[in-house]
Amino acid sequence: MLDLLVKGATLPDGRQGIDIACEGGVIVEVAPGIEAAAREVIEAGGDLVSPPFVDAHFHMDATLSLGRPRMNVSGTLLEGIALWGELKPLQSVEEIKARALSYCDLAVSQGIGAIRSHVDVCDDALKGVEALLEVRREVSEYLDLQLVAFPQDGVLRAPGAMENLLRALDMGVDVVGGIPHFERTMEEGHESVRVLCRLAAERGLMVDMHCDESDDPMSRHVEVLARETLRHGLEGRVAGSHLTSMHSMDNYYVSKLIPLMAEAGLHALPNPLINIMLQGRHDTYPKRRGQTRVPELKAAGITVGFGQDCVMDPWYSLGRADMLDVAHMGLHVGQLSAREDMAWCFEAVTSNPARIMGLEGYGIAKGNRADFVHLQARDPIEAIRLRARRLHVVRAGRVIARCEREVAALSLPGRPARLDPADYAPTDAEGQRP
Ligand code: FE2
Repeated sequence: MLDLLVKGATLPDGRQGIDIACEGGVIVEVAPGIEAAAREVIEAGGDLVSPPFVDAHFHMDATLSLGRPRMNVSGTLLEGIALWGELKPLQSVEEIKARALSYCDLAVSQGIGAIRSHVDVCDDALKGVEALLEVRREVSEYLDLQLVAFPQDGVLRAPGAMENLLRALDMGVDVVGGIPHFERTMEEGHESVRVLCRLAAERGLMVDMHCDESDDPMSRHVEVLARETLRHGLEGRVAGSHLTSMHSMDNYYVSKLIPLMAEAGLHALPNPLINIMLQGRHDTYPKRRGQTRVPELKAAGITVGFGQDCVMDPWYSLGRADMLDVAHMGLHVGQLSAREDMAWCFEAVTSNPARIMGLEGYGIAKGNRADFVHLQARDPIEAIRLRARRLHVVRAGRVIARCEREVAALSLPGRPARLDPADYAPTDAEGQRP
């Protein structure tokens, strides 16, 4: 007997009427019309069933700390940085861990199956590292957590940061992080990229740097990151996060930079919610948007994943672990309104970040772990439009979160009594779904 059988799913690639059979934690069949007994049956009825959402850029050591020790009243990046400096010495390992576990509950309920979280190593006690390593172990049955050693105050600039970063890697942190634009000078920023890429190559680790998160059109750290990636043979293992300065760069320079990034197999991780909120703050009008050049990176074959970055922390007061919210913002800011581009935005919060994180066995296919999300929407574009409710979240063939369908009861004369927002999907000239 099967553990779980999903009937009548629509998959993100457009296949319809698909059944998904799960046994022993694994997908054993994906096909129409599977007839088999199962302990639990999910009737998808044409709804989208997708692989889990993946958030490849997050800060779990700061999440849900909003209000501690005080609110970010101005809502600016500078007050956020000051607040984080005030909070760091105040919080204990237990507090960081409790908040992170609480956030993981929220993430799971929203269908997130994997998170890459940066963890600040500019704290000699490495409290965040200790807490998140414990969290990684405790959530491993229901969430894949990958940790990046992140020297928030600059690996060269902050005293002891390099030693702390090495200790964090020795303790089991997975990925080498960096923040070259925060080092004292452009040259020291470049040097930090060189040092950190060499370290990653020596240890056989991936790299994910906060890179050029500024509005400075002359910032050149992503160029150095691409060069060092090639020098050390790290192609496909290095991500540049944010890359907001690319928005402001000279077009001629970018025409050389993007092919270099593609040559290096560099991945890009913009964070649409926070980038549109924090960039362009020195501008009057017109104000720059500050999201990196997503359509152009995509066109060059670079893997782009949209990350969330922050939820209710010193830098960002909003957020709710909803990767469809992230895709929705990324779509608007990048003007990705062609139907193919809108569908791609769904990939930017699922399969693309999965590739960037190097997740194995990801996707709805025979032999993969039975991880997927049943959404109250007909297809990926509709899921983004509706920020669709997650009706079932399945991990290793077991339903780990479920939610009632969103239905409004109407009391209007002569009108339907029941309204399901997913019924408002587009139709073609014959009234059929395209
Ligand atoms: Fe970040």
